[in-house]
Amino acid sequence: MGNAKIAVVGAGLMGHGIAQVFALAGHDVTITDSFAQNLDTAKSRIAANLRDLGEDESAVENVRACGDLREAVRDADYVVEAVLEDLPLKQKLFAEIEHNVRPDTILASNTSVIPITAIMQGLTRRERALGTHWWNPPFLVPLVEVIETQWTSAEAVAWTMKLHQAAGKTPAHVKKDVPGFIGNRLQHALWREAISLVEQGICNAETVDSVVKASFGRRLPVLGPLENADLVGTDLTLAIHNTVLPAIESRPSPSPYLQKLVADKKLGFKSGEGFRKWSPDERAALRAKLMNHLKAMRDS
Ligand SMILES: NC(=O)c1ccc[n+]([C@@H]2O[C@H](COP(=O)([O-])OP(=O)(O)OC[C@H]3O[C@@H](n4cnc5c(N)ncnc54)[C@H](O)[C@@H]3O)[C@@H](O)[C@H]2O)c1
Repeated sequence: MGNAKIAVVGAGLMGHGIAQVFALAGHDVTITDSFAQNLDTAKSRIAANLRDLGEDESAVENVRACGDLREAVRDADYVVEAVLEDLPLKQKLFAEIEHNVRPDTILASNTSVIPITAIMQGLTRRERALGTHWWNPPFLVPLVEVIETQWTSAEAVAWTMKLHQAAGKTPAHVKKDVPGFIGNRLQHALWREAISLVEQGICNAETVDSVVKASFGRRLPVLGPLENADLVGTDLTLAIHNTVLPAIESRPSPSPYLQKLVADKKLGFKSGEGFRKWSPDERAALRAKLMNHLKAMRDS
């Protein structure tokens, strides 16, 4: 893939990291934001990340900060939006973006949970619109889910998959615009059962996390669930499901236990207590441990 002109709309947590990945891959990146302070600090945040990661700091020179949305997207081959998770805002922005780009410019949203179909339905050329769901931090977690809608062209999907692959990401094609895409459906199926185990008094929160980290969590980086099912045998998997599936949590709404935590303002790190209590030192230590782990995974 050659050099492309990429516009990133939104210079927050995700937007500046996405811009960084494309800049490091050698593309010309323009980043824009309606909040001047976030735009003004975008390049210095990218430079600091590159320094911290031991990457080529000069890549930041491939990024141009631009306060005007229309100008930022005008020459783009590809526009990715990472503004607040707000449907009317995203719809309004894409309408304005579409007015100011070429007919073949590909348009992507980094929404976490809003249907891509809802964001893109008002566009004139819906065949060039899709979702790209990055994971935080964008420069350390490899996956980018590329979500097509009923209107997206095969060419737009293929080009976007290639763009991310060439930038060192692991793109995954999501063929239907379903809530949670792939990664969050899998992740939250696990979280639902984790909460249920605590709710039923089978173990405490610390034990749930310890069991995951000391067992199948160890294998997950090299053995996905369906590889694992094949490894042990589909017949054994069927026998386990016959016994276990009727017993595990299947309710279609959030757990009352979780709802009570939120009602009691036990919001996790931000309030100092959620499923467990967290001192400031414990919070900082877990954050640092996670970043060090992700960096080590990148280098391995
Ligand atoms: N944080 C995550 O872990 C994560 C992961 C995957 C996807 N996402 C999604 O990515 C998107 C951005 O999330 P974030 O965590 O970077 O949020 P953030 O709050 O850090 O950044 C959002 C940015 O959008 C800017 N903005 C708001 N209105 C704008 C406008 N009209 N024009 C231009 N810029 C505008 C804000 O000033 C801010 O800089 C959301 O849709 C979110 O759901 C987040």
